[in-house]
Amino acid sequence: MTNRAAGVWGIGSYVPEKILSNFDLEKMVDTSDEWITTRTGIQERRLAAPEQATSDLAYYAADKALADAGVKAEELDLIIVATSSPDHLFPATAALLQERLGAKKAGGFDLSVACSGYIYALAVAAQFVATGLHEKVLVVGAETLSRIVNFEDRGTAILFGDGAGAMVIGPVEAGYGLMGHHLGLDGSGAELLSLPAGGSREPLSEEVLKNKRQYVDMNGKEVYKFAVNIMGDATLKVLETTGLTPEDIDLYVPHQANYRIIEASAKRFNFPMEKVLINIHKYGNVSTATIPLAIDEAYQEGRIKDGDNLLLVAFGGGLSWAASLLRWGGRPEK
Ligand SMILES: CC(C)(COP(=O)(O)OP(=O)(O)OC[C@H]1O[C@@H](n2cnc3c(N)ncnc32)[C@H](O)[C@@H]1OP(=O)(O)O)[C@@H](O)C(=O)NCCC(=O)NCCS
Repeated sequence: MTNRAAGVWGIGSYVPEKILSNFDLEKMVDTSDEWITTRTGIQERRLAAPEQATSDLAYYAADKALADAGVKAEELDLIIVATSSPDHLFPATAALLQERLGAKKAGGFDLSVACSGYIYALAVAAQFVATGLHEKVLVVGAETLSRIVNFEDRGTAILFGDGAGAMVIGPVEAGYGLMGHHLGLDGSGAELLSLPAGGSREPLSEEVLKNKRQYVDMNGKEVYKFAVNIMGDATLKVLETTGLTPEDIDLYVPHQANYRIIEASAKRFNFPMEKVLINIHKYGNVSTATIPLAIDEAYQEGRIKDGDNLLLVAFGGGLSWAASLLRWGGRPEK
């Protein structure tokens, strides 16, 4: 067994073309652009085309990440798809992606920890690489949340969007990569944010459809309170594990659920807002995809340089939370 550093070899993302603006939503539910913008920071979100499902969005993001890494799909050892809106309960979205990519020798699975899923998936991938079991792991966060949101419910319809982000994780130079993680769950809050029906507890039925139990159900106020505290607590845990201070963090990468939650958690550590990655105004909450989408955008804009410390933090249904310290760079020459 080895214990190697695992980090990012390549990154990519994809959002569907169709934009649903706050003004569009004004025509669908009793809401206003002003309310949504001031309460959440969201101005618009993307919607998958009718023929697109989560594995399609995942494919486009993965293809870009592989190209960026200089890795062929056939070289992949493992595919992890973090998602809250898989194509099916089974087969795994990872299997559909594996076939479409032509990743012939890869194993794979879906990982379900709601919006905390991407950071969990990175932690899992890092373990496989660290032990030497795998060399090249594709980690995707992909969502078509528009299929599980009730567009008649203003409490949730305004928040969510579709998109995908992906990274190829492999061995990197010592001192770079995924340096530490903190993963948490509190199932006592399971009912605060859930997709009640469609699983074994409440299989689909006419009753389910009539009561719209196949859509996201959320207690926004309670989730908000939980989020503000846990984002800070999880950040603190990762700073402690890695021996870093808030001043050592170059970029803070919070889950994009609500601008006010992001601002409150950044304030706790005096992270200046210029160091906080924010794209919630364009995409809303894309669950597992928010973190890789935000990092990819910053990377494309040249905002990330080798050696930068990125602090990733997310929360979501479960209730769940996760944070990770990613030191950018150290990947082998292509
Ligand atoms: C959902 C959320 C934006 C609501 O914002 P809020 O400031 O808590 O708003 P409240 O629920 O207190 O509602 C305030 C008022 O606005 C109304 N309101 C709620 N949604 C509205 C909407 N979309 N448009 C207009 N008015 C709305 C409420 O009915 C309430 O009216 P009242 O005062 O007359 O009763 C906020 O609670 C939130 O972001 N929670 C976290 C959700 C989250 O992150 N989920 C994903 C986790 S991964």
